[in-house]
Amino acid sequence: MKRNLALFTALLPLTMAAIFSATAPVMGQGGTDSQSFEQIERGRYLATAGDCVACHTAPGGKPYAGGLALETPFGKLLGANITPDRETGIGNWTDDQFVQAMQQGIAPRGHLYPAMPYPAFTKVSRSDILAIRAYLNTLEPVNNPIETNLLPFPFNIRSSMLAWNALNFTPGEFKPDSDKSAEWNRGAYLVEGLGHCGTCHSPKTILGSARSGDALEGSVLQNWFAPNITNTMHKGLGGWSQADIVQYLKTGANQFTIASGPMAEAITNSTSKLSDPDLHAIATYLKNMPSDGNAAPVPVVGSDKRMIAGQAIYRDTCNACHRDSGAGIPRLFPTLAGSAVVQSDDPTTLIRVVLQGSQGVATAAAPTAPAMPSFAWRLSDEEVASLLTYVRNNWGNAAAPVTAADVKALRQSLTNTD
Ligand code: HEC
Ligand code: HEC
Ligand code: HEC
Repeated sequence: MKRNLALFTALLPLTMAAIFSATAPVMGQGGTDSQSFEQIERGRYLATAGDCVACHTAPGGKPYAGGLALETPFGKLLGANITPDRETGIGNWTDDQFVQAMQQGIAPRGHLYPAMPYPAFTKVSRSDILAIRAYLNTLEPVNNPIETNLLPFPFNIRSSMLAWNALNFTPGEFKPDSDKSAEWNRGAYLVEGLGHCGTCHSPKTILGSARSGDALEGSVLQNWFAPNITNTMHKGLGGWSQADIVQYLKTGANQFTIASGPMAEAITNSTSKLSDPDLHAIATYLKNMPSDGNAAPVPVVGSDKRMIAGQAIYRDTCNACHRDSGAGIPRLFPTLAGSAVVQSDDPTTLIRVVLQGSQGVATAAAPTAPAMPSFAWRLSDEEVASLLTYVRNNWGNAAAPVTAADVKALRQSLTNTD
């Protein structure tokens, strides 16, 4: 998913102009103008929390006018035009139709595919959804016809989603848990609903939906691994404080790590723009997610051939930045010792970062981002496997060894897709 990070800043003046323009369609749809203003501003914030702009904007295209291609296991889907254009956008829709698309995944064009995160958005309240609509109504209408469905037969048949929904989709607005604090409930509402964190972080069923049983315990997407973000030690957020989580979501970095890939984009577009109370609520909820209960695996012993070879490569190529101790340098070079990304069951992110390098995230709070160089040209599959087996099992870390076949497969896949 390539997302245009400059969009939000480009969008702001446009939006403000539209809000103050007397012809903005939302005015007069009920309530006084000051009520409408409050609703539009709330809608703008909620659209940011839902990161709508990310999937509904083509690279270099007009914001929300659709056209971004999303790769699914079944083929390509495009984000729809959701500007208020009456012909090619959603300008002609009634409020009920909009709510139905968000909460049920049913639009005038038929059943939507869950690449549109309606399985998460179903939790969002009607009043919040109508605020998002009020905000979308203030956007410039863009005439841009988009056929979103580029899936091959038989997946292109929209009614096949009926069967998918029956198996995988539980519609229904979020119900607060009265045994929990208001802060926890706000966090749950944001994480499970608009934030759609589980779309990336929850393990997928064969059919591509998030399995609710092991919510937020990690999943692979687009050659990245979105790690376990429950309160699990070792491969989850067990070692992070609430403040560490808030700082990460706000700035893209904390004392342990720097966000890359799809999470860097989610932070830039969305979480870095959320209010502090909302970020604290999210952190409260995540720290209360029960640990998955799996004990740490037995580490690979230091006398193993791969560990000895890996240590030599590490000293040669990595320790200038990540240090001998694996502690890195806070906010500059991530900590490898004790890191969840490093010890996740699935080593996809690790292999990827070593092969391709990675550019850390830049946010308003932390405008410059350090980069990790690429080593694909320098290290063989065998060498990367030994190196990462060492990184995953040194400094008290413990995780399954990485094989040369794992590295080979990802190297291939990265060459094909990037
Ligand atoms: C992860 C990507 C993604 C995000 C985030 C996302 N959408 Fe979508 N959305 C899609 C895709 C893909 C489609 C087209 C689905 C299809 O045609 O079946 C779609 C379709 C829609 C539609 C139906 C449009 C039509 O013409 O049928 C609406 C309305 C919509 N999205 C609104 C939103 C809003 C509002 C948000 C933010 C709160 C949002 N989306 C966030 C991917 C996304
Ligand atoms: C588009 C996919 C996507 C979405 C949506 C997403 N994440 Fe992530 N997230 C990732 C990936 C991939 C990583 C790993 C990034 C890395 O290794 O730098 C990650 C990493 C993280 C981490 C750091 C974990 C660690 O141990 O280093 C936290 C915390 C996190 N995400 C929280 C969230 C929350 C909260 C939400 C919802 C508000 C969310 N994510 C939504 C893909 C996503
Ligand atoms: C020139 C400094 C530098 C060198 C040398 C370097 N790295 Fe990195 N590394 C970084 C930076 C900066 C990041 C953060 C990039 C980002 O977040 O996108 C990073 C990120 C990582 C991550 C992801 C950690 C996380 O929390 O998301 C891993 C794993 C990693 N490096 C391993 C290695 C290994 C193994 C080597 C040796 C082959 C190596 N690095 C060499 C600077 C370096």
